[in-house]
Amino acid sequence: MIKYLGSKKTLLSVLGDTFQSISKVRSVIDLFSGTSRVGHHLKGLGYQVHSNDLNSYAHALATCYVAADRSDHYDRVSRLIDEMNTLEPVDGYFTETFCRQSRFFQPKNGMKVDAIREWIESQDFDWELKSILMVSLMEAADRVDSTCGIQMAYLKAWAKRSHNDIKLRIPNMRERSVFGKGTAHQSDALEAIHTLSADAAYLDPPYNQHKYRGNYHIWDSLILWDKPEYYGVACKRVDIKGHRSVFNQKKKITEAMSDIVRHLDVSHLIVSFNNEGYISKDDMIEILSRRGEVLVVENDFKRYVGAQIGIHSPSGERVGEVSHLRNKEYIFIVSSLV
Ligand SMILES: C[S@@+](CC[C@H](N)C(=O)[O-])C[C@H]1O[C@@H](n2cnc3c(N)ncnc32)[C@H](O)[C@@H]1O
Repeated sequence: MIKYLGSKKTLLSVLGDTFQSISKVRSVIDLFSGTSRVGHHLKGLGYQVHSNDLNSYAHALATCYVAADRSDHYDRVSRLIDEMNTLEPVDGYFTETFCRQSRFFQPKNGMKVDAIREWIESQDFDWELKSILMVSLMEAADRVDSTCGIQMAYLKAWAKRSHNDIKLRIPNMRERSVFGKGTAHQSDALEAIHTLSADAAYLDPPYNQHKYRGNYHIWDSLILWDKPEYYGVACKRVDIKGHRSVFNQKKKITEAMSDIVRHLDVSHLIVSFNNEGYISKDDMIEILSRRGEVLVVENDFKRYVGAQIGIHSPSGERVGEVSHLRNKEYIFIVSSLV
């Protein structure tokens, strides 16, 4: 799966155990699904999962890993991926924008991306199949990128992995849950809470000012394939300017979180947040306690790689200090709701 800020890769088994410790949970909403790792893990444990995220690349990931069922697609996807891996390179928008105007990928790989994505667009695939193939391409591109995990900047010298040849693999889809087919949604969480319902929900909102759409603008453009105008050194989409989730705003996040806790139609809530976020541990407990008794589990973690190596100017000079290397991830569990 793709490298992603705030991804819960290292928390999967803790989260899985947490859901399994609650009885009578058959369906789960993953309201801020990101890479869909959590939904994918929960689907593997047998839950019916309903995923939601604001961004298009996350919607494609959720369609592939949560909504699509393995036996419905595996054979066809396997044949199509073999075909896509042999397509002739094309020098197009992706190569020009992300390999020449900026240096996120080597041109030889950018040209493969152009060829494959153009071919997917030319076929008459339904959204589920199209998403699986686009996810396969996004993950293949992620394995040969030249970043430290976010797309606000590329590395000064090519990353070692960027020299490898891009190669698509079959995404690891899950079989359908016995409780029914999963679903994938692309809505603002504050709207999704009025339409989704399940036995439990997992909430993993952004913690601070970092905007996901800006940090992963290349994946957005790869999925939308609308070849937008761009600006700045990182060639970001012009439509990112001014776009800000309320969860990235210190003044608004508490009210937004309270709204979710008030309206979400579930019996159990599991919430991830960390000690560097805009809501303090005590405030989060207060928000959640409106729905029942709150239990908090703390996990100690290494901070994301960018925070470990520091902030650098485009000329490579270190301009930011690294204050600390570890942070605390909290899991809040509201186990019995009133
Ligand atoms: C901390 S990440 C979730 C990471 C995810 N659990 C994983 O393991 O990959 C937060 C997610 O919230 C999404 N997001 C931000 N604002 C949102 C909003 N208003 N509604 C829905 N999703 C939003 C972002 O796109 C991002 O994927």
